[in-house]
Amino acid sequence: MEEDRNLSRKTVLRAALAAGVAVPAAFVAAPALARTRADGPALEPTPMCDDGDDPTPPQMEGPYFKPNSPQRTSMVGDGPGTRLTVSGYVFGLACQPLSGVLLDFWQADTNGAYDNVRFRFRGHQFTTAQGAFSLTTIVPGLYPGRTRHIHVKAQAPGRPVLTTQLYFPGEPRNNTDSLYDPRLLMTVRNAGGGREAAFDFVLNVPGAPGTTTTRPTTTTTSPGGGTWTPGTTYPVGSRVTYGGRGYVCLQAHTAHAGWEPPNVPALWRAE
Ligand SMILES: [Fe+2]
Repeated sequence: MEEDRNLSRKTVLRAALAAGVAVPAAFVAAPALARTRADGPALEPTPMCDDGDDPTPPQMEGPYFKPNSPQRTSMVGDGPGTRLTVSGYVFGLACQPLSGVLLDFWQADTNGAYDNVRFRFRGHQFTTAQGAFSLTTIVPGLYPGRTRHIHVKAQAPGRPVLTTQLYFPGEPRNNTDSLYDPRLLMTVRNAGGGREAAFDFVLNVPGAPGTTTTRPTTTTTSPGGGTWTPGTTYPVGSRVTYGGRGYVCLQAHTAHAGWEPPNVPALWRAE
């Protein structure tokens, strides 16, 4: 199954990176194989990475960014808050891990307040030779008008800055925050009284020539399941078809263009 190959490929890639061993060439040089469907609908060449992600989408900077944050991987001070680690990798379009990428994080404290005078909960770091990063912080608090989020700027050497935000699953406000984008959901689990979050960035950095892959571009219907339709509100457990495949809804939401089931694995699981 295509899904099995995707998961297997990502698992191997992450495991290899974490272990500091060479990534098997088949997983780096030919990402197209992971998503090529012999029996699928019309295909177009589109660069993809790991589970089929497009480049990590941008989001507005908001009013609270401050330049010149300190270089550090821990933003935790003496104050209150639930400990949170955020870790992952930064990839280019060809799934190659990117080293030396600047990641500049800023967030609210546990009460939802930004430090606009000093640098509490602001810090930057660079990805390792394996493209990895790890941030130790606290779960940011809520403030009016927004769901829970962490701001970040990501810049590969000599490339443009990506400004975006990371989100938490299962937040009641996710569905009412117009900025919220499920493509920016972290994977979060409880660990030792705190939280462990994971997120992999994909930056718009070209890889080796020819390392493009493909994705379905047409929506088709199949008997017994409704076709995924933007503007529709889907409860958890609802089933749709998209691109000839069936998907199960993992989180209640209202569908938007750009949130097609293959693009938002946090919202839809392929059947
Ligand atoms: Fe914010």
